[in-house]
Amino acid sequence: MGISDAKAQIIPSMARKWKQINKFIEIFSGALAQIKISENTVRVVDFGSGKGYLTFALYDYLQKQQFLPFVTGVELNPKMVEFCQSVASASDFQQLDFFQGDVRTYQPEHLDVMIALHACDVATDFAIHTGIRLNAQMIMCAPCCHKELRPQLQSPSVLQPMLQFGIHAGQQAEMLTDTIRALLLKAYGYDTKVFEFVALEHTSKNKMILATKRQNWSEPDQAVLAQIRDLKTMYGIQKHSLELLLNDQWDQQGIGSKC
Ligand SMILES: C[S@@+](CC[C@H](N)C(=O)[O-])C[C@H]1O[C@@H](n2cnc3c(N)ncnc32)[C@H](O)[C@@H]1O
Repeated sequence: MGISDAKAQIIPSMARKWKQINKFIEIFSGALAQIKISENTVRVVDFGSGKGYLTFALYDYLQKQQFLPFVTGVELNPKMVEFCQSVASASDFQQLDFFQGDVRTYQPEHLDVMIALHACDVATDFAIHTGIRLNAQMIMCAPCCHKELRPQLQSPSVLQPMLQFGIHAGQQAEMLTDTIRALLLKAYGYDTKVFEFVALEHTSKNKMILATKRQNWSEPDQAVLAQIRDLKTMYGIQKHSLELLLNDQWDQQGIGSKC
């Protein structure tokens, strides 16, 4: 896949990616130990799989750990899909496949683990929503290109001196976007952590949201939804895609409430 050469040595320009892949597997394995897996079968969808580095690493790791993995990478770019599919076939990875399509419309039937690393902007929200809807036991995402909240952000007057600087407003919008994602995961039954994925010198996209499903969850946590409401009010936020997606779902089922 272009990470190592014919002698299995890491190609120097790919050293960062190699480090990121290994860190990803380390975090994944820790979370896997905490979730409920039935009959050793693990169904994974990697949303925005790109060149498939993480998708392949995950499949290989699960196989070596004696799981039966069914892994699908979803990717918009047909060339990447074709490439990854050909490598999967050449490697005889029979339960690893790649689907050319949009994360926003891809609807798997079952899912144990939802991965979305660096899926652009609200593609992350659609991926998280699919994970929650299908009762994924693990949701792991490293969001990027936060575009949705920045134009909506209004500075609370006390923060105006700080947020007058564009870079701070951008960082605040990013933090707010991911805070609302993490709180929604919490409200919908997940133990959720937000932490640095790979140190900044390796990549600028370094934040991870990792959520594992609590077994005793029954309905959205109203206290957490109230925290989201308060944050949105304070920053004048009208629209957050994950929240809208979850509200539609819960409205349709008639068993939930709006945030
Ligand atoms: C930055 S790459 C990350 C690839 C991989 N997840 C990784 O971390 O190495 C983001 C990928 O997401 C894909 N992507 C972005 N929006 C998408 C969408 N709506 N549906 C499917 N793929 C999408 C892009 O084409 C790109 O290949």
